[in-house]
Amino acid sequence: MTTTARTVIYGASEDDCRFYQSSVEKHGSPLLLFDSSKLKQQYRSLQQALPNVDLFYAIKALPQIDVLKVIDELDAGFDVASSGELDILLGLKVGGRRTIHTHPIKSDKDIRDALRFGSTTFVIDNLDELKKLQPYRGRIGILLRVSFRSENAKVDLSKKFGCTEDEVANIIFQAEQLGLHIKGLSFHVGSQVETSDKHVAAIQSCRDMMLELNQKAKAPLSILDIGGGFPGNYALQSIDIMKFCQPIRDALASLPEDWHIYAEPGRYLIAPAVTCVTTIIGKSMRYGMPWYYLDDGVYGSFSGKIFDHAEYPLQVLKEGETSPSVLAGPTCDSIDIIDEQIELPELKIGDFIIGHQMGAYTAATRTRFNLLKEAKFIVL
Ligand SMILES: Cc1ncc(COP(=O)(O)O)c(C=O)c1O
Repeated sequence: MTTTARTVIYGASEDDCRFYQSSVEKHGSPLLLFDSSKLKQQYRSLQQALPNVDLFYAIKALPQIDVLKVIDELDAGFDVASSGELDILLGLKVGGRRTIHTHPIKSDKDIRDALRFGSTTFVIDNLDELKKLQPYRGRIGILLRVSFRSENAKVDLSKKFGCTEDEVANIIFQAEQLGLHIKGLSFHVGSQVETSDKHVAAIQSCRDMMLELNQKAKAPLSILDIGGGFPGNYALQSIDIMKFCQPIRDALASLPEDWHIYAEPGRYLIAPAVTCVTTIIGKSMRYGMPWYYLDDGVYGSFSGKIFDHAEYPLQVLKEGETSPSVLAGPTCDSIDIIDEQIELPELKIGDFIIGHQMGAYTAATRTRFNLLKEAKFIVL
């Protein structure tokens, strides 16, 4: 097997070829193959890399019941962003205490649904949201999300959410006036960051703000939620998560020992645990290039190409002389193109294209455009 700079893998072992073939014969195509042992391995690696940090799986990355069952077995927490995400958890009998509601903007119904579930930790980032929680004071804990912009993250989540550092003291003061206790700060430095520099800078800023506020606050802040952002391995160059998190561990070591630290990983845990199997259902020559039409595309499992700016590592099971080719999805829309300049050997209808690292923000954001068949989710 060889890998190019474009993260295309050419060829596969006989065992792998037989496995993909038999999976499609058994379940049809397209497929999303979920390897629960990989998810467990990722969880344990992150736990080791961030000891003393409570991990809450960000359900939004892949809200699939089989995935949530594994997270439940691992005794991990759940980062919830909607009543719909809480509804899926109902089937698992997860206690509300194992959840945090991290959407900074909520309707009153969202808040009541969460409380009915037993989920009592809420994130806010402005005074209007704070006021919405006042009727429920005494039953809830609040984290205040702070914005730390990350231009180098694939998805800068601090553009849309988080108060500025200048606003923190006033929001905490207003909370005290309303009889609400803000228990700590949270942030998300952006999804798929290249280095942990932003995590470190955000931890240090939050530590300084919390220590200063605690000198005056009636009830101290003692929770820091460091969000997600831990990277997926789209370049298929092994990511050493211990090394990635070393600066984060060092920064966390400077916090008072009795503070609680949370994290909300999504991508790092689930991306490598899902492999997509698609089949070429048509081909043509257009503009002097071979075009291959797959049974899955950007309206389906490859939706992360649009919403998540992700380029998934792809594998063809054959080796041979390659030429620039196009991989297109099955819908009638021209935007449904997975790759317009991919070096591929000559392929035929019925050949498979395998997408790796396809667990995070893939099936979660797909649509039913053209009412095409969604990839079937198979637990290995
Ligand atoms: C509030 C919140 N927490 C956690 C996550 C998960 O982030 P990641 O997948 O980068 O770990 C997200 C992603 O959108 C988020 O919005």
